[in-house]
Amino acid sequence: MRIAFFDSGIGGLTVLSEAIRRLPAEDFLYFADTLHVPYGTKSLAEVNQYVKESVHAIMQEEIKALVVACNTGTSAAISELREMYSIPIIGMEPAVKPAVEKSLGKGRRVLVFATPLTLSQVKYTELVARVDDHSIVDSFPLPELVPYCESLNFDPVEIGHYFRTKLAPLDLNQYGTVVLGCTHYPFYRDILQDVLPAHLELIDGSKGTVKRLISMLDERNLLGSRGTGSIKLMCSESNPEYVVKMEKALAYLQQKSPAK
Ligand code: SIN
Repeated sequence: MRIAFFDSGIGGLTVLSEAIRRLPAEDFLYFADTLHVPYGTKSLAEVNQYVKESVHAIMQEEIKALVVACNTGTSAAISELREMYSIPIIGMEPAVKPAVEKSLGKGRRVLVFATPLTLSQVKYTELVARVDDHSIVDSFPLPELVPYCESLNFDPVEIGHYFRTKLAPLDLNQYGTVVLGCTHYPFYRDILQDVLPAHLELIDGSKGTVKRLISMLDERNLLGSRGTGSIKLMCSESNPEYVVKMEKALAYLQQKSPAK
């Protein structure tokens, strides 16, 4: 049985690559909702429907756990998915709590990057209210970044220019940590690190999510040691070019060193 990963597009590959690193003997399935990517600039009702349709398609396969490797999809539908299916379902949450702890220690603020839809959700505002006792969290949407990523645009000059222009209104020196609250954004970790002041630490949720996946599988005795370590790539339409794109994007991530 496979462990399924789901995202609107290639972003969830940033979480899958961490899972492959930690669980090399497992068989994985990765499903991208290519018919509807990007999610982050659509309405909550639309994304809720798209996530449920995609997960319905995934559930036709033999799977033992599902990772909704998409922050926007998680905030739009995770509770309903957990009511609908009995297998372990793990979602993404912007890593605001560890960022607050780290920034407080440095006497600085936290900057959260995510899609407009993620940042507008009650799930996000409640998360910040829960962990931000000192009001040090600022949120900043980057709606252009998912389309750049989906076109495999990792050009440091063009994307570096985008970040410099976009972030120009912010006083970046006041921040100690930046949360990458969308699974597409870690593709730009290196470029961001070059653009941002050197003291800033980038935090994303992939390590924590994979840790949670492993402990949920372990608790249920579902960790496999006899898998072949295969990866099945699927999308919501017949789209062989996109499968090639996913292979390229995964190879791009795997030749990079893992995030700290
Ligand atoms: C998007 O499709 O806009 C990005 C999904 C995410 O938040 O990870």
